[in-house]
Amino acid sequence: MPTSQEQITEAIKSYYAQELKSNQDLKTNACCATESLPVYIREVLKSIHPEVTSRFYGCGSPIPNAIENKVVLDLGCGTGRDSFIFSKLVGENGHVIGIDMTPAQIAIAIKYADYHRNKFGYRCSNTTFHEGYIEDLSTINIEDNSIDLVTSNCVLNLCYDKQKAFKEIFRVLKPGGELYFSDVFCSRRIPENLQRDPILRGECLGGALYIEDFRRLLAKLGCYDYRVVSNVRIQINNEDIESKVGDIEFFSITMRAFNIELEDRCENYGQVAWYLGGIEETPNQFMLDDHHIFEKGRPMLVCSNTARMLSQSRFSRFFKVQGKETKHFGLFECGSSLSSDSQTAPSPCC
Ligand SMILES: C[S@@+](CC[C@H](N)C(=O)[O-])C[C@H]1O[C@@H](n2cnc3c(N)ncnc32)[C@H](O)[C@@H]1O
Repeated sequence: MPTSQEQITEAIKSYYAQELKSNQDLKTNACCATESLPVYIREVLKSIHPEVTSRFYGCGSPIPNAIENKVVLDLGCGTGRDSFIFSKLVGENGHVIGIDMTPAQIAIAIKYADYHRNKFGYRCSNTTFHEGYIEDLSTINIEDNSIDLVTSNCVLNLCYDKQKAFKEIFRVLKPGGELYFSDVFCSRRIPENLQRDPILRGECLGGALYIEDFRRLLAKLGCYDYRVVSNVRIQINNEDIESKVGDIEFFSITMRAFNIELEDRCENYGQVAWYLGGIEETPNQFMLDDHHIFEKGRPMLVCSNTARMLSQSRFSRFFKVQGKETKHFGLFECGSSLSSDSQTAPSPCC
């Protein structure tokens, strides 16, 4: 059993380089995205090379709307399935940077970069792949405030230093930029022996983030309000592993957080927001999170955090937000989340 952080990291690399040759070799359902994809993403997926898709180990679909021309950073991109989907969605004037610590994984992404450039009809490739660690993005020259969207699919649970990783994310995000990611979260803190178990770790269970520790971690970095977009209970479907983890429940959660100054509670200033339409993939409604779904043209009372997310991010041109933070009406009264599992993974927003 590996004990030091270095040994755990080497064991993870070996899991993705040697143990797994395709997603058929996974021992649980943790790193298998079960979310149904929107049609426009399914269309792009048809262009992705089968060697790339066969080694897709994501647990969700962290692909947000309105990303044309944007700079995207895919943390732990693996063989690049999501990076290549982003490559198509940001268009030739956008750019996608993928980083992964496992040489065998990133080598496949690099191998197929030109294949996808050609598929998408681009003159120059808009993807760049690097071998490296999320915990230190300066080694691949990612500058402060340089990224529009940081994404990641089933990776941050594997990081040897999660605090460092999230600190790096907020360092590189532009003001108003977004972190939109899917990962494995759990209902209880994982005992140390299970964290070190190479199979549990490799399968994205051993390092899963206990949701309350995740909330604390983000708050330490000044991020007080993140939003849950989807939350699905993971069925492990492996008796040995189920008996090891006992009563710990695991969830695949897709969430978003913005590099915007927000408060730790939702405050009511009587602000109202309208979705004006205009996002090509979702012209009639816009889903900010699992309990904020804006119908085009329909006014919705919002808290000041939501108003800031809509007016200080790339979504500002698609929204009208009325009212300033001048007259305060107390704490915002929110409806409950629509997600059935949300009692185990509450968003800090009401
Ligand atoms: C479960 S796989 C997911 C890969 C990819 N996102 C996908 O959806 O196919 C996890 C990936 O994260 C990478 N990884 C884990 N910890 C990392 C770290 N600290 N820095 C960079 N990459 C890391 C692994 O090498 C592996 O390729």
